Amino acid sequence: GRKVILDVDTGTDDAVAIMFAALHPGIDLLAVTTVNGNVPLENTMDNTLRVLDWIGRSEVPVFAGLPRPIVRAGFPSARHFERDSDDDPHGSTLPIPPARSTSRAGGAVEFLVETLRATTQPLTLVPVGPLSNIATVLAIDPSLTEAVDEVVVMGGGHAEANVTASAEFNVWADPEAAHVVLTAGFRRLTLVPLDATHRALVTRAACARLADLGTPAGTAAARFIGRRIDAYGAAAPCGGAAPVHDVVCTAYLVEPDVVTTRHLPVAVDTAGPLTVGRTVVDTRPDSRGTPNAHVAFDADAGLLVRLLTEVFARDPAA
Ligand code: BDR
Ligand code: CA
Repeated sequence: GRKVILDVDTGTDDAVAIMFAALHPGIDLLAVTTVNGNVPLENTMDNTLRVLDWIGRSEVPVFAGLPRPIVRAGFPSARHFERDSDDDPHGSTLPIPPARSTSRAGGAVEFLVETLRATTQPLTLVPVGPLSNIATVLAIDPSLTEAVDEVVVMGGGHAEANVTASAEFNVWADPEAAHVVLTAGFRRLTLVPLDATHRALVTRAACARLADLGTPAGTAAARFIGRRIDAYGAAAPCGGAAPVHDVVCTAYLVEPDVVTTRHLPVAVDTAGPLTVGRTVVDTRPDSRGTPNAHVAFDADAGLLVRLLTEVFARDPAA
């Protein structure tokens, strides 16, 4: 299958993306690297190890990355995250048992630099959290873009935002890192922003079907997505459904038709007090900008749910 490295800030939708990548036969998940984002780095490590153990894939190595953004001391503004409150779609710790495997391999950045240097075939990078690790790898060796056939980023928003009125969380959390990645000259950069992920909502009925699979992945996915639906329902009634942002990226790897993309210029605002972290997508027909990202504008929720149901029926331990 396609050789993939996931970079995550595990969170509930990251967890669904990890299970998808670890179980789909068309994906060879080489490793998972973690980064500060939804929750502190330590929690992203713990949650990621729990997920891989839970589905019987604890042999996939997990490496800890940056505990903070690459330039700023912390997030651009003190947006207080009430973790574990009713409208928190993540929670500090995933509701599955602690990992039995305590394999806490070393540094994510060192692993990524060595792996990209050594690989004899191009790898696919799928960062679905703040881009601090990927930007640091590029700071060490900008030529490493050559070892990547495609980078698939969950982040940004054109007509949609979430963490502020202007920005999407992953890009907002480390805007300078997002700027580095978007301007690094990757052969192919696919950006899956909120404009796509907000159209791939998963309903409670779909969750019930996942739970009915009776597999570890189906059970956990139903639990994680159910928590997201509860949180979104509390915050802004979505009618009993919720986006599962990060898994749209892993689904795209095996079924590109799950999204519709346009090749456009995309830049990141790292300065504006009201707009820091905003991805500025130039959709003007007469734009003179150079397209640098394949931006997903739509997503097929039905296809996504069919893929989830198919993949989460698998149980390596069975
Ligand atoms: C992104 O932020 C996080 O909350 C999710 O894990 C996703 O990666 C969505 O804005
Ligand atoms: Ca994430």
